Amino acid sequence: MTHSTIPPDSAEGFATRQIHAGFTSGVSQNTLTVPIYQSVAYEFPDFAAARDTFALTKPGNIYSRNGNPTNAVLERRVSDLEGGAGAVAVGSGQAAVAIALLTLVAAAGQGPHHIVASNKLYGGTSDLLADTFADLGIEVTFLDPLDSHAWSAALRDTTRAVFLEAIGNPVLTVPDISAIAEAAHAAGVPVVVDSTMATPVLLRPIEHGADIVVHSATKYLGGHGATVAGVIVDGGTFDFTARPERWRRLTQPFHRFGGLVFTDEFDGSDGRTPFLVLARAKGVHDFGPTLSPSSASQILLGIETLDLRVRRQTASALELARFLSAQPQVARVHHPGLTDHPEHELATRLSPEGLGSVFSFDLAARPDEVGPFIDSLELFTLAANIGDVRSLVVHPATMTHSRLDDAGRADAGISSLTVRLSIGLEEPADLRDDLARALSTVTVLDAPRAAEDRFR
Ligand SMILES: Cc1ncc(COP(=O)(O)O)c(C=O)c1O
Repeated sequence: MTHSTIPPDSAEGFATRQIHAGFTSGVSQNTLTVPIYQSVAYEFPDFAAARDTFALTKPGNIYSRNGNPTNAVLERRVSDLEGGAGAVAVGSGQAAVAIALLTLVAAAGQGPHHIVASNKLYGGTSDLLADTFADLGIEVTFLDPLDSHAWSAALRDTTRAVFLEAIGNPVLTVPDISAIAEAAHAAGVPVVVDSTMATPVLLRPIEHGADIVVHSATKYLGGHGATVAGVIVDGGTFDFTARPERWRRLTQPFHRFGGLVFTDEFDGSDGRTPFLVLARAKGVHDFGPTLSPSSASQILLGIETLDLRVRRQTASALELARFLSAQPQVARVHHPGLTDHPEHELATRLSPEGLGSVFSFDLAARPDEVGPFIDSLELFTLAANIGDVRSLVVHPATMTHSRLDDAGRADAGISSLTVRLSIGLEEPADLRDDLARALSTVTVLDAPRAAEDRFR
């Protein structure tokens, strides 16, 4: 059945040759870079191989909604950098968060379902958890990620996941993943960490006890502001068989998949863990948040320079945070890398390699001066992204976190005076001059800042 190259002088007609000539399926070339496999479906060598691959008993490419060879390289690469057992690439970071959590919910079978989540989250994630998950009947308890007792107190029999950001967006909260994982595991709940802001260069949550790591690869992994993508990595560490009645879809015969028991069938040795197979064969298959292979290729290019970019951007960000903290027009700088920040000791212990290139600060200004300050920046681009080689600025209250209510914004540490920066690869001195120029447009308020008012 396998098609081979049709020679130019073949007797096949034009219509046949325009489809088959010059190509042999599955022949690998000696390319140095990862090829973009722009193919919807994959040829099976025979009937038995097709049957077994569809039955999930044999690994292999089926259809690019669920998986693609270019994406598979991205999956293996991010999994390797995170110390995972495997990964699933999806169309966006938002899809990575949604599919990871919905897969855990689905693994449990019918509800009720409950999730415990940090209240220091990217605004889009808050929208998903507080609004759309509520529509789906999934209850979410939000809590302060630094309140270690709150995590265990919030866990219920119906809790299916604990969710937090390794470094919170936008005020750089660094939760103690090990302590939270200990509490969650004692209650039989897996821990999902969004490590977008940390990247595997600075912090690898699985080493600290997290079970599943999600990334908006759109940010640092891609790094160039060109491509939207997401990745879900499974550490393969969570034992779903310890409380099998909680995870019926993984531990009991699954009718939809020919009665397979996922925890018996998939041991993760080939990158297929029970969680990842369910994420791919149910979550990604049913909802369809597919990553295009050309996008995967762009993220792979970005990853090749990940550590160089992240280390340089991290150092520049700390330098600029120090500069801003000394300016009279700045009320507080939300960067725990600063020695007088109340979370300095904790954050530098938990993330000793640094805290990335995104941080926020509150202007000591009248609210009507925030817009003109942002507009007077010249090197910083007003754009809702982070982790780009370009330096970016946003006003979280009216942009990334605008859908939160006032209480949600206050919990997230955001006021109308908060400005978020994402520091790129430009010369730090040029960025400092740009900030200084823009700050000179802000009226210096008379009232001296009380020391205790500098941080919340
Ligand atoms: C921490 C974090 N997680 C998830 C997302 C969502 O990712 P995407 O925009 O790739 O869907 C973002 C986007 O800003 C983010 O900052």
